[in-house]
Amino acid sequence: MQTVFTDFDAAYWQARYATGRDGWDAHAITPPLQAYFDQLDVARQPRILIPGAGRAYEAEYLHQRGFRHVFVADIAPEALAALAQRVPDFPKEHLLLADFFGLPNDPPYDLIVEQTFFCALNPALRPAYARQCAHLLRPGGTLMGLLFDTDFGSVQEPPFGGSQEEYRAYFTPYFEFRHFETATNSLKPRQGRELFICLKKK
Ligand SMILES: C[S@@+](CC[C@H](N)C(=O)[O-])C[C@H]1O[C@@H](n2cnc3c(N)ncnc32)[C@H](O)[C@@H]1O
Repeated sequence: MQTVFTDFDAAYWQARYATGRDGWDAHAITPPLQAYFDQLDVARQPRILIPGAGRAYEAEYLHQRGFRHVFVADIAPEALAALAQRVPDFPKEHLLLADFFGLPNDPPYDLIVEQTFFCALNPALRPAYARQCAHLLRPGGTLMGLLFDTDFGSVQEPPFGGSQEEYRAYFTPYFEFRHFETATNSLKPRQGRELFICLKKK
């Protein structure tokens, strides 16, 4: 029998923030993303999207380092409000209160950053996630970040786990794989349980 999940909509996520059920929140940029961002060339001013950004410490980090085309998208107002409060000069027009799956690709992005967004989606949406990332990126653009490579058991709400083998199938039609291996610098509770991915759009 097929597993049926509830609809994890804006009200669901807003309620998780409001009730403090936000165990995913690292309260700071995580080491794998920081290390990746530190080797980006700020002079190129890439157009960067962080979908399902939550409180968006990555956007704060990039903004403070001079990246001026950073966009965050989330369906929970609470998440975007937290970034706006911490970083008052973050451009308000870069705070997208929007469903990732409906975001336009004009102009396209150079880089999409993934962290605990993929695992927050109903797993039935995973093929659509890979397709939408490819749609939003320019040819040669990059999808990078972290995916849980672990089994959370038979849960009825996020996070949902998975395996490297499963994920490969979603991304192969659209991306070339530069990195797709266990992250070496994960936060302690996530060590050995997440993949560092860096994929180039074909
Ligand atoms: C598990 S949280 C992760 C937040 C953040 N990436 C982090 O690591 O702290 C998942 C986030 O995705 C957002 N979200 C869920 N579905 C979404 C969708 N379809 N479009 C945009 N954001 C969505 C939720 O509101 C929530 O903020």
